[in-house]
Amino acid sequence: MQISQRAQTIEPFFVMEVAKAALRMAEQLSQEDWPMIYLNIGEPDFTAAPSVQQRAIKAIEEGLTQYTPALGIEPLRQCISKWYETQFGLHVPSSRICITSGASSALQLACLALIEPGDEILMPDPSYPCNRHFITACGGRAKLIGAQAENRLQLSLANVQDHWGPKTKGVLLASPSNPTGTSIALDELKKIHAFVKSQNGVTLVDEIYLGLSFQLEQACTALVLDEDIVSINSFSKYFNMTGWRLGWLVTPAELVSPIERLAQNLYICPSAIAQHAALGCFEPQSLALFEQRKSAFKERRDYLVKALLELGFEIPALPDGAFYVWANCQKLYSSLGVNNSWDFTFELMKRTHIAVAPGRDFGQNDTAHFIRLSTASSMTSLIEAVSRMKAIFTS
Ligand SMILES: Cc1ncc(COP(=O)(O)O)c(C=O)c1O
Repeated sequence: MQISQRAQTIEPFFVMEVAKAALRMAEQLSQEDWPMIYLNIGEPDFTAAPSVQQRAIKAIEEGLTQYTPALGIEPLRQCISKWYETQFGLHVPSSRICITSGASSALQLACLALIEPGDEILMPDPSYPCNRHFITACGGRAKLIGAQAENRLQLSLANVQDHWGPKTKGVLLASPSNPTGTSIALDELKKIHAFVKSQNGVTLVDEIYLGLSFQLEQACTALVLDEDIVSINSFSKYFNMTGWRLGWLVTPAELVSPIERLAQNLYICPSAIAQHAALGCFEPQSLALFEQRKSAFKERRDYLVKALLELGFEIPALPDGAFYVWANCQKLYSSLGVNNSWDFTFELMKRTHIAVAPGRDFGQNDTAHFIRLSTASSMTSLIEAVSRMKAIFTS
């Protein structure tokens, strides 16, 4: 069988190799062994809010299971519009909100609607690997730019200006970012967007972790800057609904119709049950619960960052959101007899039964010395993980 060039250019997701190895090891552990601790995971340990669960059951019982409009049910688009109003004092009309099957579909639709074969999109390195693959899958090229610690591992205006070329079509940023948990300063984003617009380009901002921004000044959607920015969001992270596969896209008005046609043809509509259930996210008790859970993520971040620094990890930019810590483990290589973060990951797993994500998936900007640790595990697990690491790194 002749596999398409397009499919062949999509690289494997190495973190899955780690996940598989961790599961294999966990199966072989005996009762006396330390149980596996999964700090490689990119999804909240919390499940959907009670109201979301009840609404899903009700939707099934009442037969609200037919196809919906491609851009989603109007009540959900309106709830999201109201959420922007109350969270950010920003009027985003529901007509510009497109409900999608997770941020993944939102990214795919946006890329298909905007990228021509050969177009280049600038992205920071490190960044979430799938985002560059959405670009590649449309025939575009993700041009990765080494992000600097002094810019909190985000792109600066100078980066964008320096790398903008004749084929560049735009930028794709994520704020807060996976794997770094750091946000771009709104001021810098404003300058970047003004430059991009002056070049007739497009600014795409993946805001899937926006709800999990810990610092007030960072907790602001890029949409406050301009209606021409394309914002990608999701019910997966802040709303704790990863497997429900629901997200959304806010686009300039002129992009709504092309996105609608693409969605209609590519997958008809997002899951009806998930959409009816997600209305429960916007009830006051659910919103209060998400804020409580966000505080739990912040507490875990505070604990883990301090503990990792004490152990000898280096964290070039402290995370201000999401649930990740991007840590350089080079100084600890000698304790494990390794010389890169890939081997470090497997040796750490062997000795401590802790799974982490090695840096190589996320780009090439010194990523061979980095690991990503996730705080999407209970505080008890984090404390236990730190104590196991202490035993090998400080003995
Ligand atoms: C930065 C970023 N964007 C997009 C996604 C895709 O999320 P989903 O499709 O579950 O909404 C993820 C998932 O981890 C992510 O980290």
